[in-house]
Amino acid sequence: MLKSLRTVISRNYADLLNRDAAVIEDLLETPKRDGHGHLALPVFAWSKEAKMPPPKLAAELAEKIRARLAPELSAVEPVSGFINFTFQPEYVQSLIAAEVFGRRGRIGYGTSGGGKKLVIDFSSPNVAKPMHVGHLRATMIGQAIVNLAKSQGYNVVGLNHLGDWGVQFGKLAWAYMNWGHEYPFEKEPFPSLYKLYVRFHQEAESKPELENAGAKVFKQLEDGDAQVVEIWKKFVAISLADYQRIWDQLGVKHDLVRGESFYNDRLKPVEEELERKGLLVESDGAMVVHLDEFDMPPCLIRKSDGASLYATRDLASAIYRMQELNADLNLYVVGVDQTLHFRQVFKVLHKMGYSWTDRCHHIAFGMYRFKDAKVSTRKGTAIFLEDILEKAVELVREIIKQKNPSLENAEKVARQVGIGAVVFNDLVNDRVKNVEFDWDRILDFAGDSGPYVQYCGVRCLSVTRKYGKPVASEFKIALDTPEEKELLRTLLSYPDTLAAAFDGFKPHILAGYLIDVCHRFSLFYTKCDILGESPELESSRMTLVQAVHHVLEEGLKILGMELPDAM
Ligand code: ARG
Repeated sequence: MLKSLRTVISRNYADLLNRDAAVIEDLLETPKRDGHGHLALPVFAWSKEAKMPPPKLAAELAEKIRARLAPELSAVEPVSGFINFTFQPEYVQSLIAAEVFGRRGRIGYGTSGGGKKLVIDFSSPNVAKPMHVGHLRATMIGQAIVNLAKSQGYNVVGLNHLGDWGVQFGKLAWAYMNWGHEYPFEKEPFPSLYKLYVRFHQEAESKPELENAGAKVFKQLEDGDAQVVEIWKKFVAISLADYQRIWDQLGVKHDLVRGESFYNDRLKPVEEELERKGLLVESDGAMVVHLDEFDMPPCLIRKSDGASLYATRDLASAIYRMQELNADLNLYVVGVDQTLHFRQVFKVLHKMGYSWTDRCHHIAFGMYRFKDAKVSTRKGTAIFLEDILEKAVELVREIIKQKNPSLENAEKVARQVGIGAVVFNDLVNDRVKNVEFDWDRILDFAGDSGPYVQYCGVRCLSVTRKYGKPVASEFKIALDTPEEKELLRTLLSYPDTLAAAFDGFKPHILAGYLIDVCHRFSLFYTKCDILGESPELESSRMTLVQAVHHVLEEGLKILGMELPDAM
């Protein structure tokens, strides 16, 4: 919508400003402050050439523009080094109405991706281990970026780099063959698997020979022993089924599973290539690539016992994604603790001569900090994602019971709000920072929380129900109170918000925007009566209410959340 506004200015004033249309459109920004119009053009960069201080230049240019005011504009004001443009309310409203009601399902979508392929590695849990709370970040930041990329016209491949290989699976297979019959694998496959995993590690502490036994079975697995391979496949299937249950609750979908094992027969070629290119160096029996020139420790390619490593697999996986999947962008949504790993992998690829490493990005995120320990930790330190989600639903169920006992579909709403609250709390923070996990804040209906945004959407629906008539998809008259104008101005910048959130791979830009819409809506709703006003005013305000609802609904969907009908 802002795009159209930008073109009005470039089309009408490129000659007068003596710049290319594209330059002007690029420079135009949304003013931060209320009452400063819809778009601001900074003139600082032109002041030297004009031999005039920016405020004077802005004033002079504004004067000239005003003398040829385009019909879409209502005011042009110089404010220090900016020219602020205000558009006619009718024009703004017609753009919003066309976008919001004409493009349901893809409001605010752009085309900058142009069908380019974006491969994104996200969630990627480790077989036999329950997803922990850190995987919530890897999962939801990933899914939000998937949705944002689609909104910008990318062809997205969401990929699960499942942790399904390594000596631990030899140990687990050994445990399964020896103790498996003691566990209810038929009835509770995944918990049984995890219990085996924990037991093996506990027992191995006092019986180190178990380590060797496990290593031997892993060797069998690597050599393709049919029985062990069958068992390993079973572990993978059991684990994927369990993750799927959680992904379904979170609305998460991968397009491809390419676990670490997928690269087994691609590791040798990578090592050979490193060798050929003179990069592979022996160090204490292990093979490494030195990265001294980048002030990094060497990247370990093969251990002294011949075992391949996480890094080797990531070299192979990057080559696969760039050269076989033909990715234009290759993203890894992984915790900040793996920053060095990815820097090393990308540098090794760079040294191998691949020019595409600048299109590979580690989308890092910070860690969770727990304010209280209301979440049970089944064992020791790990906090399981599923426990958090269940706890959230339980807490919301309680709130509903107290505040709205007659609510229809209470269980469904408890899930939408409970899970949504946890997801929103994750995404509203700049991903690179640590997130504080505090139930009171997460579930604070009056704070900047998921439930707050959902509640705002529900309020829109309840007014619409009271109105009782179909809401017009056009504004009948210009809305002109300051609250209405600012709310409209905020809606206008939804497409820019999506684009900016994608550009920085920062879902929090969108989450923060939705909070802003809700604040604006509250101000409008407190100040302006709707029902009972003159038919035209009533109708136009209802159109605004409906537009807010639709933008909230679609914005939340991009963040992987649902808007309940009532709560
Ligand atoms: N399985 C890893 C973990 O749970 C994440 C894998 C990330 N992807 C990658 N290509 N290394 O920490």
